[in-house]
Amino acid sequence: MNAGLLTRLTVELDAQSAATGLRRDLVASGPQGTTLEVAGETLVNFASNDYLGLAGDPEVIDSARRALGEHGLGVSAGRVLCGTRGVHGELEASIAGLVGAEDSVLYSSCFDANLGVFAALLGADDVVLSDSLNHASLIDGIRLTRARTRVYAHADLDDLERGLVYSQDARHRLIVTDGVFSMDGDIAPLPALCKLAEQYDAALLVDDSHATGVLGATGAGTAEYFGVQHVDVLTGTLGKALGGGAGGFVAGPRAVVETLRQSSRPYIFTNAMAPALAVAALTSIRIARERSELRERLSANTAWLRGALSDLGYDVLPGEHPIVAVMLRGGTLARDVAEALRREGALAFALSHPVVPAGEERIRVQVSAAHTSGQLEFAAAAFARARTALAAA
Ligand SMILES: Cc1ncc(COP(=O)(O)O)c(C=O)c1O
Repeated sequence: MNAGLLTRLTVELDAQSAATGLRRDLVASGPQGTTLEVAGETLVNFASNDYLGLAGDPEVIDSARRALGEHGLGVSAGRVLCGTRGVHGELEASIAGLVGAEDSVLYSSCFDANLGVFAALLGADDVVLSDSLNHASLIDGIRLTRARTRVYAHADLDDLERGLVYSQDARHRLIVTDGVFSMDGDIAPLPALCKLAEQYDAALLVDDSHATGVLGATGAGTAEYFGVQHVDVLTGTLGKALGGGAGGFVAGPRAVVETLRQSSRPYIFTNAMAPALAVAALTSIRIARERSELRERLSANTAWLRGALSDLGYDVLPGEHPIVAVMLRGGTLARDVAEALRREGALAFALSHPVVPAGEERIRVQVSAAHTSGQLEFAAAAFARARTALAAA
């Protein structure tokens, strides 16, 4: 190993370790569910994106098991070589049906979808207008285009409009937003974004990773939640509400999807999704569409926990989404409360700089349709005791 590189990395890691500590992954065992086994303890899980509880659904798991028998594990080839199976096409059609698009194309993850979508659709004559709180994968994907980029202040329609006015010379303008922002759980102001897009002849791309399957009467996502039509391109994940396996997609008009199949590098130059994962996602989408009661339960669970934590005096960012941001600003307060919750047997993560701005520390609680009322009450009681313990300390 090159000594200079090794020395620099070691010095930087030592400095980070002394300043903030190094991030260490939590090692859980057993299947994903509303409880997780961590270091021999059973914790009630409020840290997963398994919003509909489908990750542990027996039908989803059985379908994947059967697909393993039928198709084997992986395909050892890209989609454009001999890696495509019938289930990939079935899943692409099923995703398009769920989100109300003409077609969709699969990627290994939504991170990859976001890395692959911009460079394939845009060029140097184009302008991207991107919300300042967009997900890291959107930011990185936009960096891979030669298009000019203007970041507008989070959900600030006036700032966005200024960008649209300044960029009238562009060949295309593309407004880019998360449908649901993963740190705050707030929903993008889609009706107003659609209106601006129409007014300025811009296209709109929404990353609906936290909304597909979750928002809207049929789980179609943010556009259905607001009853708007004008989303040109949608990206999303199969790693959250839709079974929690892995995979991402871009959905939109046929010409967009065909362009991605022809030239999107993370689609072309990588191994195809394992067929068993595709089958698990197909089963999850069918269940998500058939069982609207899962969204009703998720909504009721979320409203209950948001209310209970507010009643306890916690500062909960307002909203309806199952991402519940409990603000615990300053110092190590958020981390201390998360540790107290963990001692009580509840798992939720504290978020601090650089994941959120300094001074905006919080605990992110994620609710699932699968949480029982007992588990929600347990969480509220744990938060109550954490508050009392910290007040006494
Ligand atoms: C908004 C958003 N986009 C994209 C991703 C990436 O999704 P995936 O896990 O499928 O790569 C995430 C997950 O963290 C996300 O929250």
